[in-house]
Amino acid sequence: MNTSPDSSAAPAQQTSANPATADLEARFEQAFGRVPDGVWQAPGRVNLIGEHTDYNEGFVLPFAIDKTARVAVAVRADSVVRLLSTYGDHGMVSTDLSALDAASTKGWTKYPLGVMWALQQRGIAVPGLDLLLDSNVPLGAGLSSSHAIECAVISALNDLTGAGMEPEEMVLATQRAENDFVGAPTGIMDQSASLRGSKGHAVFLDCRDQSVQLVPFDAESEGLVMLVIDTKVSHSHSDGGYASRRASCELGAEVLGVKALRDIQVGDLAEAGGLLDEVTYRRVRHVVTENDRVLQTVRLLSAEGPGAIGALLDASHASMRDDFEISCPELDLAVATSRANGAIGARMTGGGFGGAAIALTPLADEQQVRAAVESAFAEAGYKAPEIFTVTPAAGAMRLL
Ligand code: GLA
Repeated sequence: MNTSPDSSAAPAQQTSANPATADLEARFEQAFGRVPDGVWQAPGRVNLIGEHTDYNEGFVLPFAIDKTARVAVAVRADSVVRLLSTYGDHGMVSTDLSALDAASTKGWTKYPLGVMWALQQRGIAVPGLDLLLDSNVPLGAGLSSSHAIECAVISALNDLTGAGMEPEEMVLATQRAENDFVGAPTGIMDQSASLRGSKGHAVFLDCRDQSVQLVPFDAESEGLVMLVIDTKVSHSHSDGGYASRRASCELGAEVLGVKALRDIQVGDLAEAGGLLDEVTYRRVRHVVTENDRVLQTVRLLSAEGPGAIGALLDASHASMRDDFEISCPELDLAVATSRANGAIGARMTGGGFGGAAIALTPLADEQQVRAAVESAFAEAGYKAPEIFTVTPAAGAMRLL
């Protein structure tokens, strides 16, 4: 659960104080004929900078956003799990905890069931459950809709089982769910942002030891907004591209004789160039320079504020486009058009191959950037993008 100063002491809210929670509770009662034991929520995330550095034991700087997954949950006396979501046309899915099986689990239920499976693997006795999911994190947009679900579910189970897991353990359990149940070989950034995020802050995470420093990130106070441009190009980290980048990084570390690329510095790159094939070298160069950009961003944010980080966002995008090769034409167009119309820095965010870009934009230029990106997409014959603003929000919490 959230350990940030702004929310750790927050008591569970009364239903009546929160219409969205009351609505979920009412729907739960209608679906399952009983009241839930509680309601938990966990946010999606935007990564400010530090892409594909997490599984290289490096640095990342994401923040939790004010778009969340919520789960209403009640414990059952048997080992049955019944799952229902408020979106899409999915009916109720029923399964037994003694027979959780990744291969035969399809659709969104992979995420809650993956968490239950991962907890079982850690020796935690998971009870039967009725669970209703609601989420307004856009799906497939690179904003970690899947981790938002997983983090809401693990927060609920941590409370309901009395397991007493620290956020670091919950991060590892959800990573296990993603890696070994969902089948996506992802790192620890997204769930760390969702579980450990804090209003008004970015989460500076050292992925080697999971230490966290909350860094104030208040764009508004400098007359800036953070725009998210969802390109509507959907992606999945279970299919090929993400895994092949990860494999290149592991190969690079092995050839260079280090535990992880975290251990290579920018000054080592010239020598590394002589030891690696051309493609692996460029993959390594992205990770090494990106780690350095995260550290520079943290320093600049503290010393000068958000208005100073634009060039680092731009350099991060160029590195992902040219060296790591995980961008796509839609993301490049969103970034270039934002920059040409007033944004002070822009980059794709998340794992790549689709999803969203972010553009740090002066308030005075927001409408110009929005209009320019929309018309550039129309002109290129791309799907209409969805553009919205985000601010750093609180991490996972119990609502009821
Ligand atoms: C996805 C993964 C993260 C991270 C990013 C890239 O979001 O889930 O672990 O690797 O891609 O930075």
